[in-house]
Formats: sequence, structure tokens, C-alpha cells
Amino acid sequence: MLRQSLLLLARSGRVKELVTRTPVSGALVARYVPGEATKDAVEATRDLVADGRLVTLDFLGEDTLDEGQAEATVAAYLEVLEALSQEGLARSAEVSVKLSAIGQALPEIGAKLSLENARRICRAARNVGTTVTLDMEDHTTTDQTLATLRELRKDFPETGAVLQAYLHRTEDDCRALAYEGSRVRLCKGAYKEPATVAFQDRHEVDKSYVRCLKVLMAGQGYPMVATHDPRMIRIAGAFATRFDRAPGTYEYQMLFGIRPDEQRRLAAVGERMRVYVPYGQEWYGYLMRRLAERPSNLTFFLRSLLSQ
Ligand code: FDA
Repeated sequence: MLRQSLLLLARSGRVKELVTRTPVSGALVARYVPGEATKDAVEATRDLVADGRLVTLDFLGEDTLDEGQAEATVAAYLEVLEALSQEGLARSAEVSVKLSAIGQALPEIGAKLSLENARRICRAARNVGTTVTLDMEDHTTTDQTLATLRELRKDFPETGAVLQAYLHRTEDDCRALAYEGSRVRLCKGAYKEPATVAFQDRHEVDKSYVRCLKVLMAGQGYPMVATHDPRMIRIAGAFATRFDRAPGTYEYQMLFGIRPDEQRRLAAVGERMRVYVPYGQEWYGYLMRRLAERPSNLTFFLRSLLSQ
């Protein structure tokens, strides 16, 4: 119930204004977002890489209906890719992109514009020796995002996709994407979705995650196991053994600020461990989804809000 309400609020413009204008969110935001500027993203990357972890950078933003904003987001990605290259970090860090941040939701031209913009980011990534992964947003965009992925992969086959285990369709999508060279990030899913398309019960979502993971681990692609859940991590390890996956043929991924000790532990035992690092000013939607996953954070947040 609380999760559903927080996910609804994640899309409320009014609450967004209230929350982002109040200086309370500082400590909580800082836990999940290392900063707003390119230099903050690069600094966080440098620290993580020095500590044996890999990185994927997300310039925060979503649901834009403004072509200028979409263009600014592309420019931010081009800038950070160049900065990574100059710092010698481009081999250790890739970027994650939400198509709705680069124009997908614009009426009439959205599909074409976001594809063109994604191409520009993929080209810049390729030029500095790294890759792009397309984030997955709510289920109304899944088909369009997978269609864009197919187009991008004609020129940039290294482009990665995200699939969400909470959707009923995802086991089939995993089968379709478990081919050689295909990079698939499997997560549980973070949006408010109706029962017609998504499992509502956490246990059902977990069972779906395991089925999807099995398909990906048994397949020919490169699975990216994006979860903080200790059980899912153990099961991924067991599948890697069962399907004879050599180290480096799959990786674990977690969000910046969540279970950092486990991130370090996995890296220390020789696993590829990538941290998803969001940065930028548009942290509201991202923060609300993190609160929805961990309502205990909400008490801290509300207490700070009330003490203002
Ligand atoms: P679950 O939520 O069951 O949490 C398992 C454990 O992890 C908890 O018991 C707790 O210990 C810890 N934990 C989880 N969330 C926490 C939090 N916010 N604060 C503190 N501790 C926490 N989703 C999506 O819809 N589209 C996408 O493109 C992506 N992309 C993405 C990339 C990467 C690299 C990751 C790791 C995740 C995503 N997600 C996502 C988010 C994902 O769908 C999911 O919402 C979160 O990862 C939480 O799910 P878990 O698998 O961690 O399990």
C-alpha cells in the first residue's frame, strides 16, 4: 500500500515541487546520488573504479515533453563520456539512458527523436570505447523501448537492455534476448504497474526473477544481475556454476549507496561488480522509487521534513 502510494507520488508534479524545494532531502539524496555535475559523476566513478568496481552512469531525468530538455540530456551524456575518456575511465564505466529523458514521450515524433538521440549517445560511447544500456521504464513503453533497442543494435550491437522480472511478459523477452552478444540487465522492476501486466506479490516477483535469470544464464548472452537481494545473488552464483559460466561472462550490478559492503565483497572474490551511479538535478522520481523499495527510509525523510 505504502509502496504503491510512493510510486504514485513519484509521478506527481506538485509533490515533486514541494520536495525538491525543501532543503531537507539533502542527506537522503546524497546517499543515493553522488552529485549534480559531470565532475561529481566522474569523481564517484574514479573512487569506485579505484576500489575494484565498474560503473554505469545515469544522467537523471525522465518523462520530458520538451525537445530542448531532451537535447540538454544528450549533451550531458556526450560531455560525461568525453570526461570519462579524458580521465582514462571509459573502459570501466558505461552509461545508462532512459529513452523518456531523450524525447520518447513527445507526441508524434517521440519514437524517431529518441532513437536518433540514442544513436548519438551510442556513437559517442563507441568512440571512447564503452557502451550504452537502455533503462526500462513503465510497461506502456516496453514495446517501444525494445523496438528502439533492435534498431540501435543494427549499428551498435553492444547496446544493452533492461528487463523487469515483475512483468508477466519478461520470461519470453529473456528468451528472445538470450543470444550471443546480447547484454541484458535483469532487475525486479521499480514502477507502479497494474495486475493485468505485472505480478503484485513480492514472492511471485522473486520466482519470476529466478525463472528469468535461469533463461539468461543458460543462454548465450551476457547477463547483468541487477539486484541487492541476497537470495537472488546466491541463486545467480549457483546458475553460473551449473551453466559453466566463466568469470567475466556475466556480472552483478547494484545501485550507488545500496549494500556497498556486499558490492565490495563480490568484487573482492573476483566477480565483475558494476555500480549504477545516477547524477544530476532531476533526482525526485529516482528518490521516490528508492523510498518505495525501502519504506524505513521514509521515516527518516519525513522526520527531516517535519523538523523544517
Ligand atoms: P528488493 O527490493 O527485494 O531488495 C532486496 C534487499 O536489498 C532489501 O532487503 C535491502 O536489504 C536492499 N535494498 C533494496 N532496495 C533498497 C533501498 N532503496 N535502500 C536500501 N536498501 C535496499 N528498475 C526498473 O524498473 N528499470 C530499470 O531500468 C532499472 N535499472 C536498474 C539498474 C540497476 C543496476 C539496479 C540494481 C536496479 C535497477 N532497477 C530498475 C531497480 C530494480 O527494479 C529494483 O527496484 C531495485 O533494484 C530493488 O530490488 P532488489 O532486486 O534489490 O530487491
